[in-house]
Amino acid sequence: MPKTPFEKRRKLSQLAQSPSVFAKLRGYWLTLALTIALWRGKVAHAKQILFDLKRTIRPLPQFAQWFDRIQQDRPPRVTLAPTLKSDAYFVADREAIREISQRFQLQERDAGLVQCTGIDDRVFPAIEACLSDFVRNAFDTRKRQNPTRFADELHRAIVDLDGLKRGIDPDYSSPQTPYVYLTQYLLENAYSAYLAWFWVYQRGLLSAKFSVLDLAAGPGTVAFGLSLLLQSLGQTIALPELHISYTSIEKQEHLQFRGLQFWRYFSTEAAVRLRPIGLFFQFHTLDLFQYIDRSNLLPDQRFDFLTISHCFFADADRYEQSMAIYRQIIRDRLAPNGIVMLIVQWSKIPGRTRDCSVETERELLRRFVELDLGLELEWCRYVSSTGQRGKIDNFAAFAREHCPSQSKISGVAHDYLNESSISHYAIDDYIILARQA
Ligand SMILES: C[S@@+](CC[C@H](N)C(=O)[O-])C[C@H]1O[C@@H](n2cnc3c(N)ncnc32)[C@H](O)[C@@H]1O
Repeated sequence: MPKTPFEKRRKLSQLAQSPSVFAKLRGYWLTLALTIALWRGKVAHAKQILFDLKRTIRPLPQFAQWFDRIQQDRPPRVTLAPTLKSDAYFVADREAIREISQRFQLQERDAGLVQCTGIDDRVFPAIEACLSDFVRNAFDTRKRQNPTRFADELHRAIVDLDGLKRGIDPDYSSPQTPYVYLTQYLLENAYSAYLAWFWVYQRGLLSAKFSVLDLAAGPGTVAFGLSLLLQSLGQTIALPELHISYTSIEKQEHLQFRGLQFWRYFSTEAAVRLRPIGLFFQFHTLDLFQYIDRSNLLPDQRFDFLTISHCFFADADRYEQSMAIYRQIIRDRLAPNGIVMLIVQWSKIPGRTRDCSVETERELLRRFVELDLGLELEWCRYVSSTGQRGKIDNFAAFAREHCPSQSKISGVAHDYLNESSISHYAIDDYIILARQA
């Protein structure tokens, strides 16, 4: 029996979503086709059937669950050219996966923990160089135009964003906030987003044509991560023609606007070295807490991916409210069998302490994903630079020795934000893929 009102609601929504007779019949037929494909050794075809099956019926039949689990545990054994069918998933390419895993030095420490100390140096130095030029130009110009106002706005932005490190939600309202955010957070968060999209790709869930709704999107970090991944993949495999639409919901118009300006700058400047990835953008400036009253302003559309990256509130009341809104948006906007991608800093998982055990972690994640967000957990890893769940004594020294440095953008941070040390690409996030329960 469901115990809490939320569990009751969840049970009801599960009943409401129980598959129709037609879906069940199609499910049986696809399971049979899957068995035959595997019996004949046609693994790639079996994967395609598995994807169709996932779109048709949930939970998956036992046999399909078994095949799905094997796919998750191992990188694909066959290397196939990506399909060019516009609505088909690309088959993950073994060589591309190996290449990226090696560059990031990804190491599975246990079933839920991955250590990451490397970087894809085919793409990150290019974005860092462009970002440094872009921000430096903006700061130089603003400083020249009105030094006193610039100093005041810059100070406000720095103090406000400093809240992120102290567990206080910033308000992101200073006109210089976008530039300070780009300097301090874009690269590191795009690094996490790249890895999240990489695991989506590895699991065979990327297709040539899909839509993304990014909540509390900031400057569009999730789009940058996706674009960087596709640019890397494009250097190992022939990418099919892509049709990707990216929609941002964000409270601060200036963050969206500067993000788009930087996107254009990066696309033009980096085109010399990287193949530009075309994304179709839509921006909706909206306070998430007003979603219920103002959702009619959004296009009447459902999305294949719904992403929430680094936007879980520190304030307890706002956390509760935001979870209710996220659940509502997921119900309203996620396509059937769409995927929710969550990138969550460890400290934002309620109850997670630095020294929690693997079992406690698993239970806390279950509560976070299933109870707080009403989703079904599909895949999750804690990705950490140190390869440990707990705190290490001198992280700065560890980062200097093991993590890739951000020397160019650190020069801008030194000149304008008074930062004396070099920043590094570091990560301590949960990357979670989930589906509607
Ligand atoms: C830490 S940033 C994360 C940005 C981006 N997702 C990333 O990963 O870099 C949090 C973002 O949430 C936005 N935000 C905060 N409260 C919001 C609200 N009530 N509605 C919409 N966006 C909000 C902020 O403006 C900010 O851009």
